[in-house]
Amino acid sequence: MVKPKIAPSMLSSDFANLAAEADRMLRYGADWLHMDIMDGHFVPNLTIGAPVIESLRKHTDAYLDCHLMVTNPIDYVEPLGKAGASGFTFHVEAAKENWQELIHRIKSKGMRPGVALKPETPIEEVYSLLEAKDPVEMVLVMTVQPGFGGQKFMPEMMDKVRSLRKKYPSLDIEVDGGLGPSTVDLASSAGANCIVAGSSVFGASYPAQVISQLRKSVQD
Ligand code: DX5
Ligand code: ZN
Repeated sequence: MVKPKIAPSMLSSDFANLAAEADRMLRYGADWLHMDIMDGHFVPNLTIGAPVIESLRKHTDAYLDCHLMVTNPIDYVEPLGKAGASGFTFHVEAAKENWQELIHRIKSKGMRPGVALKPETPIEEVYSLLEAKDPVEMVLVMTVQPGFGGQKFMPEMMDKVRSLRKKYPSLDIEVDGGLGPSTVDLASSAGANCIVAGSSVFGASYPAQVISQLRKSVQD
């Protein structure tokens, strides 16, 4: 069985107090910290880059699950590797023909490669990246349009999760967008084991309770 990983999205945190926010989430039971890197081009929003990851790394040993919503992911491998990123998940729509080189470089910088796909991208587009000599080790199925927190979960994306889980019983399958206590069961029963949650965790009166509810859904 694949292990549950609960990853609060730091996009919903107070960026001016990032180290304290990260620490709080880890105390509340988070497994990973999900870091949304946006370039203002691949998506219409601009967030953080390697300098912020580097600063945060000085304050925590946590797994930094970096989700790259950028047009040229290859340009970020070297700086993020140096900064201390743990996972490097790029979008298949941005990888084009150089994905083999990209995966190879991510691994050579000591990071774990993952691939993400937008809602309109068919799941078949990631299969070759899972069957390559140097495969990706996680697939992130977007359950909202990438770019912003606080959007509505798209249940129709669960067909992708089901197809993936059927083919890859031990793969890390991550879902991202609109996840919370009311939607997580749909994702976990489809086969997702890594749950990203931003507004449902940070907006809760008791975030620790939400994190444990998310974990329980994946475990049951
Ligand atoms: C959206 C980001 C998500 C986002 C999730 O582009 O990839 O990680 O922060 O936020 P919620 O959980 O609020 O939908
Ligand atoms: Zn994300």
